Amino acid sequence: MDTPSTTAAITDGLNRPIHDLRVSVTDRCNFRCVYCMPKEKFGKGYQFLAKKELLSFEEIIRIVKAFSAIGVRKIRLTGGEPLVRSELEKLVEQIASIDLIDDISLTTNGVLLTEKRARSLRDAGLGRVNISLDALDDKTFMAVNDVGVPVQKVLDGISVAAAAGFDSVKVNMVVKRGLNEHSILPMAEYFHGSGQILRFIEFMDVGNTNSWKNSEVITAAEIAEQINRQNPIEKVPPNYRGEVANRWRYVDGGGEIGIIASVSEPFCGDCSRARLSAVGKLYTCLFAADGHDLMSLIRGGASDADLNEKLSALWQRRRDRYSETRTVESVLRPKVEMSHIGG
Ligand code: GTP
Ligand code: 5AD
Ligand code: SF4
Ligand code: SF4
Repeated sequence: MDTPSTTAAITDGLNRPIHDLRVSVTDRCNFRCVYCMPKEKFGKGYQFLAKKELLSFEEIIRIVKAFSAIGVRKIRLTGGEPLVRSELEKLVEQIASIDLIDDISLTTNGVLLTEKRARSLRDAGLGRVNISLDALDDKTFMAVNDVGVPVQKVLDGISVAAAAGFDSVKVNMVVKRGLNEHSILPMAEYFHGSGQILRFIEFMDVGNTNSWKNSEVITAAEIAEQINRQNPIEKVPPNYRGEVANRWRYVDGGGEIGIIASVSEPFCGDCSRARLSAVGKLYTCLFAADGHDLMSLIRGGASDADLNEKLSALWQRRRDRYSETRTVESVLRPKVEMSHIGG
């Protein structure tokens, strides 16, 4: 595969480089999490995208290569649920063969992660896996996923991922008041000493369908305080500039946890992430209203130079900092749905 020629590192309108690209490979999911794809909006009549409307693997690779030329080094595959896209291993393999990409990861709900699939993803070059799990009791977890999937299915996915030898397996828990806050301490205790990093995520106002209310956010400070009372924790410096989660470790040596505080402690200042939807739209913020149509650009015959120029121009004029400027009004503005850009 050709190695793209690199252009000088570019920065956006707020002096932030581009480093990560999150690639959504499907808008479909086998869950209906109430904070992401509530059944009232994503019910039986909902029209998901047809296969031909999605970027092909070849098109994704072309876009990833172009991004690597302007600074991207990390690729995260998301959805919807990325494992519902068939032959995802092939995409991973092709991304892994792009010289400049040094980190490939996946965010999944874990249910489709069989031993065989995990091994083939690992063999294809997938380095890291983040698995979502919001509770340890079936009653709460089923109230979250809303499709009757029991906790054990996801715990099996986590075990399979741990056994497959990925560089890291993290567990993501979205915390929403009135839904699962009683699961914070049981989850912390369960993953203490397990080798998997549990990350608590503040409930966010992504999209317009999850009826977000500020009063339903349990802040990072509250979460850290609760855990610290159960089992003392201390802060750990970030692994790199712009890391999404604040890191903590148990004083007793039980490992690390993370807290993603997008609402109470926004981290836009270092945000080096772009997002590509399954239909090829590029979003420069998780909370953007609309994306830039790269599919039409490449299907319209754009050359590599045209694509490179377009991406550079888009990034250079970026000024997004939604979480730092969130207001009662901005929450109600049109925003892309989580299932289109995968968080
Ligand atoms: P690592 O590379 O393992 O740190 O992954 P990650 O935390 O960046 O990705 P993951 O898909 O596991 O996302 C965890 C949570 O962080 C999700 O709720 C995402 O929506 C949220 N998140 C990731 N990037 C951003 C961002 O740029 N802005 C905001 N507001 N939230 C983000
Ligand atoms: N707020 C915070 N996190 C969310 N996720 C999905 N919807 C929301 C939301 N409204 C999480 C998922 C997954 C990650 C990609 O984003 O649980 O772990
Ligand atoms: Fe699916 Fe993940 Fe959204 Fe839940 S949070 S509905 S698992 S995409
Ligand atoms: Fe980046 Fe937008 Fe998230 Fe801020 S709110 S960290 S700009 S994606």
